[in-house]
Amino acid sequence: MKPYIFITRKIPEATLDELQKIAYVTMWEDEMKPVPRKRLLKEAAKATGLLTMLSDKIDAELIDQSRNLKVVANLAVGYDNIDIPYAAKKGITICNTPDVLTDTTADLTFALMMATARRITEAAQYIKEGKWTGWSPLLLAGTDIHHKTLGIVGMGRIGEAVAKRAAGFDMNILYHNRSRKEEAERKLGLSYRSFEDLLKTSDYVVCLAPLTEETKDLFDEKSFQTMKASALFINASRGGVVVEKALDRALTEGWIKGAGLDVFVEEPIQPDHFLLRHANLVALPHIGSASLETRIQMVRLACKNIENVLQGLTPPAAVNG
Ligand code: DGY
Repeated sequence: MKPYIFITRKIPEATLDELQKIAYVTMWEDEMKPVPRKRLLKEAAKATGLLTMLSDKIDAELIDQSRNLKVVANLAVGYDNIDIPYAAKKGITICNTPDVLTDTTADLTFALMMATARRITEAAQYIKEGKWTGWSPLLLAGTDIHHKTLGIVGMGRIGEAVAKRAAGFDMNILYHNRSRKEEAERKLGLSYRSFEDLLKTSDYVVCLAPLTEETKDLFDEKSFQTMKASALFINASRGGVVVEKALDRALTEGWIKGAGLDVFVEEPIQPDHFLLRHANLVALPHIGSASLETRIQMVRLACKNIENVLQGLTPPAAVNG
């Protein structure tokens, strides 16, 4: 009998051809809404593999009910939605989708930084609302990006790809990371800084660090108070690295000039959320890796991860070995 695989969101059937040859595959039928927890637990209880989204909680409760589960393939590079140590203890292989989304996510991060600096969303709205009465010297004047100082917090693959783009804009690039990245320093002309120094000196602070015990609530009142009053804060990693009430205060009291966020503590963020009232905040619905080409590659890589585990082979992107 073929092993059973459950996919927690509706994804293009055409990307599943290889997996369907070796497994019986079903998927949650909604594209926009996550599978309800009850259904996920029910499916996990009989599945050998799960193809999950970052909105699905793969915790001890689910793992304990999943007698046959061998592999969880997350459709994301981040995997903070999964209890990795517990899965490892139970012998479940956890996989993610790195590399294929690096450039696409870096493009979006840079676009968000530019949109925030040059007030793109505000300007687009302005013209559609019929407010444009004529050219004027300071109309929607933003902030320059070229030749400014960019501070990247979290220098992984996406951090490096953002740095590469920033070099093309003649930016002075600083970074902070758990460990020094000497090759990237040489290749991209990066300078390592302590977290505090980076905050103090950057015109743009861009967070690309994964959400871990160490980075949770990293951007708190103290961090925002340390930043320049002219600085812009961009977050394209996970909402949990930011204390949202602290960011709210920073924007209200002018500790920083503005922010661009692709991620939030609770997703989806509700339209009446306190952060969304700020005119100097650009908010996007977690679309970092959302290009059609990349999403298809991510699905194919997630399927390959599952296929390899089912066939006793090493998956291309295992997180826990
Ligand atoms: C990821 O892959 O972790 C991204 O946040 C998805 O867009």
